[in-house]
Amino acid sequence: MSDIYILGIESSCDDTSAAVIKNNLLLSNVTAGQAVHEKYGGVVPELASRAHQQNIIPVVQEALRAAGIDKSKLSAIAFTRGPGLLGSLLVGASFAKGFAQALEIPLIEVDHLQAHVLAHFISQGQEDEKKPDFPFLCLMVSGGNSQIILVKSYFDMEIIGQTIDDAAGEAFDKCAKVMGLPYPGGPHIERLAKTGDPSAFKFSKPQIAGYDYSFSGLKTSFLYLLRDKTKEDTTFVRDNQSDLSASLQATIVDILMKKLVEAAKDLKISEIAVAGGVSANTALRNAMLKTGRKLGWRVYIPPFSFTTDNGAMIAIAGYYKYLNKNFCDLSATPYARVTF
Ligand code: KG4
Repeated sequence: MSDIYILGIESSCDDTSAAVIKNNLLLSNVTAGQAVHEKYGGVVPELASRAHQQNIIPVVQEALRAAGIDKSKLSAIAFTRGPGLLGSLLVGASFAKGFAQALEIPLIEVDHLQAHVLAHFISQGQEDEKKPDFPFLCLMVSGGNSQIILVKSYFDMEIIGQTIDDAAGEAFDKCAKVMGLPYPGGPHIERLAKTGDPSAFKFSKPQIAGYDYSFSGLKTSFLYLLRDKTKEDTTFVRDNQSDLSASLQATIVDILMKKLVEAAKDLKISEIAVAGGVSANTALRNAMLKTGRKLGWRVYIPPFSFTTDNGAMIAIAGYYKYLNKNFCDLSATPYARVTF
């Protein structure tokens, strides 16, 4: 069979990204972030859509140039159909449709969360690459999602646990915001936590049945602690930034790991992966590795470049769909919420 070249386009939130893959081998992955949201403390949907409009053509051009191929070589175009911000998704979807029609090649719709999971199958041409065996569990942790996904095959995935309120990334971001840190707060919390004591402060942990998560109680308990302590001492937050960050981070990691361990034990699965923006967090990565050593898991942690939103994961999902001739037509419209 001749080589398959897929262009993957991701525009679900505030990153415009395009990547080219040759079969499962990544040739390029180009992302334009959007600094415009920083001063608002969160992503402003209207501004995100406009920035995607500005970025999409240069990002795709650069992805093709970096891959060293002409657009005429592409076998198909894959795009994120959802979940995400509708205005943002529309930019990528419309561009993908127009480009696929102009090139007279198939169009492939990709689910953003499935793509995060499938990022574990991207090859970067290194010899020691390990890929998870089916079935495996994937802890999906991002700004919008916290889920435990049972992955039975490339496109047969079941969400067995998910947050009933805030996502883990949101907990990082919202607590960072009350500490006066910029958006997104996760990386700032991680940086400050490095010099802090993780047992300095205790926060409430959820008591939820099954494998579901909840982070809103933690957020409230963090907020109340800051409010009460600041009444006694106005410089409390500034003086305790590192300890607060370390304690918050340790609590979030504990909550995430507890349910993951339970699910792995109950389902007798020892192939365990992590994905999504929060999987960039070193404390979470270390907890996965440490628990993995203790319980005999094989742990799959994505390279940092695949933790945030990226076109490469859309391209690899597109590649597996291409093999199944799973194409879509021009009527495919974006969706905002999780659908599988
Ligand atoms: O998957 P992602 O890039 O996109 C969305 O869900 O939109 O995840 C973004 C989330 C944010 O909440 C951000 O604070 C969090 O991932 N994040 C981190 C770290 N890097 C990104 N959280 C904790 N530690 C990090 N190093």
